[in-house]
Amino acid sequence: MSKTSSTVSHPRLRRVYAREGDKHDLWDAWADGYDADLIGELGYVAHEQAGELFLNRVPERSARVLDAGCGTGLGGAYLAAHGYHNVHGVDYSEPMLEVARGRGVYASLAVHDLTRPLPREAHYDAVLCVGVFAFFPPAVGDLRHLVAVLEPGCPAIVTVNGRGWVEKDWERLLAEEQRAGSFVIDSVHTIAYLTREGIDGRVLVLHREASTNGGV
Ligand SMILES: C[S@@+](CC[C@H](N)C(=O)[O-])C[C@H]1O[C@@H](n2cnc3c(N)ncnc32)[C@H](O)[C@@H]1O
Repeated sequence: MSKTSSTVSHPRLRRVYAREGDKHDLWDAWADGYDADLIGELGYVAHEQAGELFLNRVPERSARVLDAGCGTGLGGAYLAAHGYHNVHGVDYSEPMLEVARGRGVYASLAVHDLTRPLPREAHYDAVLCVGVFAFFPPAVGDLRHLVAVLEPGCPAIVTVNGRGWVEKDWERLLAEEQRAGSFVIDSVHTIAYLTREGIDGRVLVLHREASTNGGV
């Protein structure tokens, strides 16, 4: 068990943090009860914190938005409550997507693994990605898939779990990826994240290099 997982009190979160590598089965199993655990027990506020920043950066309510790793749809529900009506969700967990579907706030929902490029024809005015990036995978380099589908100058607003940020040395890896031309970092903000576990987070605002297609 990693040092991080042993300092987390919630059993399901501990299982997620303890697992090295992919956690697809854990997300599938958590779809039922996720919202109650995250909001009720863990004090999850990442979707609201990133959502607030999103409102400032993307004022146009008709913007075509990708909610990447939408899970049960907390981010989509936040955006819908603030008037966005062209929000598209992807996630690799069918059970998570099923819960999101029930909210009726997405223009479309689809299965997609974020460690892979999005379809070539995909294009968005903004990307919101909350609660997905932490420990790997998906890894820092996979952020290039998100900026690759953005119209020029449009933002990807992406959270990173604060524990993962420290443990994986995101600051160094982000700088390396930016130097390699995967994306441009506009700003990094510290946010509240899992308040009852004392875990903070970061929000990255990224865009793609005008001269590249994001490496896809
Ligand atoms: C902590 S939940 C966050 C869900 C939602 N964005 C929120 O804020 O509540 C993490 C989500 O990322 C999804 N996920 C993790 N790795 C993924 C990958 N490689 N491709 C697509 N989705 C992934 C999981 O299935 C899960 O729904």
